[in-house]
Amino acid sequence: MKHRQLGPFSVSAIGLGCMNLSHAYGPPVSFEQGERVLLAALDAGVTFFDTAALYGFGNNETLVGQVLKPHRRRFTLASKCGMQGVEQANGQKVRVIDGRPDTLRKTCEDALKRLQTDVIDLYYLHRWDKSVPIEESVGALSDLVRAGKIQTIGLSEVSAQTLRKAHAVHPITALQTEYSLWTRNPEIAVLKACRELGVTFVPFSPLGRGFLCDQTLDLNALDAKDIRRSMPRFAPDHYASNLRLLPAYRALAKEAGCSPAQLALAWLLHQGDDMIPIPGTTSVEHLLDDLGADQVMLSADLMDRLETLINQQTVSGDRYNAQANSEVDTEAFA
Ligand SMILES: NC(=O)c1ccc[n+]([C@@H]2O[C@H](COP(=O)([O-])OP(=O)(O)OC[C@H]3O[C@@H](n4cnc5c(N)ncnc54)[C@H](OP(=O)(O)O)[C@@H]3O)[C@@H](O)[C@H]2O)c1
Repeated sequence: MKHRQLGPFSVSAIGLGCMNLSHAYGPPVSFEQGERVLLAALDAGVTFFDTAALYGFGNNETLVGQVLKPHRRRFTLASKCGMQGVEQANGQKVRVIDGRPDTLRKTCEDALKRLQTDVIDLYYLHRWDKSVPIEESVGALSDLVRAGKIQTIGLSEVSAQTLRKAHAVHPITALQTEYSLWTRNPEIAVLKACRELGVTFVPFSPLGRGFLCDQTLDLNALDAKDIRRSMPRFAPDHYASNLRLLPAYRALAKEAGCSPAQLALAWLLHQGDDMIPIPGTTSVEHLLDDLGADQVMLSADLMDRLETLINQQTVSGDRYNAQANSEVDTEAFA
């Protein structure tokens, strides 16, 4: 696989989003299936793995640690703090955003144990907790760098202004935010700020959460807890409208000689050498399809037609519902 620079690390141009193995779109996969996907990624040359304390409320870090520990020197490990499961009086865990320094320190200690490692290479603040100044949360992460617990700091879903404030406290290595053909918000201001500051951009949900792929998602078949059920773009009316984009999109993939998923990833890779997308999958077959994107070359003409077909104006519905939108700090299209 081709490589790209992520702060001090040289990593595969496409990383693996590990969330899907434990969280978000259905029940967690078995340990054996998680192991198959993680090891297939490593064998295929993936050297950048992305997890978080939130995913499976710690179970995803545990899985990644258990499977990849023997290979720890071969890859760059990214995880996230600041949003995790907190046990309630009834014993159930709920997702809580908490960016207080003490919480971040404790989450990091727990993560190191779950990941079975001495140091996390890239540690993101998963969401900015708006009740805590960003300087305080990033200050706590910079203490963790000094203590040798983490190597570099990242942020997720913050605005250009917040990124600049954070960067003034401690250099930010990467910004991870949703970016794909159908989610263009980073183009408003964040990409420009990243480039000015030398921050690598890590697009998450680069396949539009499965929309930009060859299988048409059947909304009725989604798991009851699949988070796409709460996303406006996947609500029946918006989704029906979005589906009309797919035949022309798939025809463009055919013209480019690649699969639809590869086209979505190649479009991101063509945005600049500072982009390292992290598709997520529970399937080895899909993983290998995704990784093939680093060999796809797109002409300027095809890029133009692709961007005209799928963009913020042609997609119907917001990416997040009101609650999820209130938790992010990114610029929105008017
Ligand atoms: N920082 C944040 O707040 C945040 C938020 C969301 C995600 N993330 C990170 O980003 C990663 C990726 O995002 P994501 O999983 O939300 O979205 P995504 O990568 O855009 O899409 C994942 C979906 O696409 C399907 N898929 C993947 N490759 C495919 C292929 N070649 N052909 C057909 N279908 C394919 C997967 O299904 P199968 O399992 O069937 O392959 C899955 O349902 C996550 O794992 C996580 O690490 C971060």
